[in-house]
Amino acid sequence: MSVTESAPKGVIPAHLLRGQKALVTGANSGIGMATAIGLGRAGADVVVNYVAGREDAEKVVEEITSLGVRAAAYEADVSQEDQVVAMMDWMVREFGTIDILVANAGLQRDATIMEMTLAQWQKVLDVNLTGQFLCAREATKEFVRRGVVPEVSRAAGKIICMSSVHQIIPWSGHVNYASSKGGVLMMMQTLAQELAPKKIRVNAVAPGAIRTPINRSAWETPEAERDLLQLIPYGRVGDPEDVAHAVVALASDLLDYVVGATLYVDGGMTLFPGFATGG
Ligand code: BGC
Repeated sequence: MSVTESAPKGVIPAHLLRGQKALVTGANSGIGMATAIGLGRAGADVVVNYVAGREDAEKVVEEITSLGVRAAAYEADVSQEDQVVAMMDWMVREFGTIDILVANAGLQRDATIMEMTLAQWQKVLDVNLTGQFLCAREATKEFVRRGVVPEVSRAAGKIICMSSVHQIIPWSGHVNYASSKGGVLMMMQTLAQELAPKKIRVNAVAPGAIRTPINRSAWETPEAERDLLQLIPYGRVGDPEDVAHAVVALASDLLDYVVGATLYVDGGMTLFPGFATGG
């Protein structure tokens, strides 16, 4: 198996999420883009949220529409309460409701602690953690208002938080990012506990090293990729589709009894690979 081998793209059952309405935040690039397309392949209608990069968002919409489902792009900054409220109102008006929220939008602003500005700390917490909170809150209101529609899904709603292996792996030089993802873990579990009685399933996907713009420097040269592979027992850098497949599965009734779980999609990065040869 080559280390650059891609994940298969055509394996999603086409009717798995038929009739469901999904919102993916940060869906104009990377993991969000692949996830939005994956949900479309599974038969869901998809709102493609973005904060900058309308053209890319429109391309994602075009690709999803070509699959025979509905899609639309919507610009909103997930860290801004009024914009999230307006986005959810718009989605309910235009698409009728929401069944699946993928709280994916996230960013890095890397610096060591002595170099890190308050603005860098705050920005990452605002988008990665507060953004997920705001989207989860607004989606929950609609899930509760509408309740379970058995022909559509056994659950009243599904929230999938995009986390990271760094929700449990400390990461020097990235204290803002690791803290935000640690927060996502506890937010996800707490919401899962709070919302399960309302038949809302909250879970997380925690990607490891996935080939996307956020970590380009970690894989773009052969030397960087070789170093990165030291951390990945499975021997390849992940593709956005690897993550999309996990999200589609978690959103579907196939995993209806999965509540408050984190699905690590990391090629074994969380298995302490340094201990493979020592300890
Ligand atoms: C980060 C990437 C990093 C990966 C594994 C992700 O959450 O966004 O930059 O390569 O974790 O360390």
